[in-house]
Amino acid sequence: MQISNDFHTVDFDSIPIDSFWKTGDERENKMHRIHAYPAKFPAFITTKALEYATLKGAKINVIADTFCGCGTVAYEATRNGKDFWGCDINPVATLIAEAKSQKYSNEKLNKYFLEILSNFDLLAIARTEIENINERIKHWFREEQIENLLKLKSAIHKTIPSKSHYLKFFLCAFSNILKPTSVWLTKSIKPQVDPNKKHVDVITAFSEQFKKNLFKKKYNF
Ligand SMILES: C[S@@+](CC[C@H](N)C(=O)[O-])C[C@H]1O[C@@H](n2cnc3c(N)ncnc32)[C@H](O)[C@@H]1O
Repeated sequence: MQISNDFHTVDFDSIPIDSFWKTGDERENKMHRIHAYPAKFPAFITTKALEYATLKGAKINVIADTFCGCGTVAYEATRNGKDFWGCDINPVATLIAEAKSQKYSNEKLNKYFLEILSNFDLLAIARTEIENINERIKHWFREEQIENLLKLKSAIHKTIPSKSHYLKFFLCAFSNILKPTSVWLTKSIKPQVDPNKKHVDVITAFSEQFKKNLFKKKYNF
């Protein structure tokens, strides 16, 4: 085996492209974009690997991904009619993966969304709850944001039954607005505070995220 870190000696253009792995410029299914995940890999790899294994005569019923991340394989497995088993050490990853592996009706999503907004307006957060919150949260969020995020999270839980997979869909939208509503420097993947960051209203951000996550068709599959 040879290992080199001198990439200048490799002529990448001379490496022939295997037509089997060449995909068009097809955009990934919208479901793959319901939540940002830094280590996500391209979805076509799953479909191609599945196609390859089938071509080689493998009979596939279940696909497993022990480092499933945001569920790229989980969603593609479900879409291809295969059962899926996965796990990940990061609970945000498994939340996204579970949310992505379900079917949703736009009608029900819209109904829940309006109910969440009504419940948000009715809820009040006790001062002590904000004051006693974890110091790390105080570091990353301004007080007004903490109050509104606590209200929004409570409104989501108040609206949707705990066993419903719709809860995971809305928790994903909630999770995805945490970075923009915090003082984390926009566009930075490194944890860095931007003391001058423009205020982003929690409900505006949540509504925009919800609309982005809605599907054009009635169902997402
Ligand atoms: C490269 S990412 C996988 C990305 C995934 N294919 C996707 O498209 O989202 C690797 C994942 O391994 C997870 N991970 C790291 N150590 C782990 C462990 N000991 N057990 C389970 N998962 C782990 C990380 O949380 C991360 O989500």
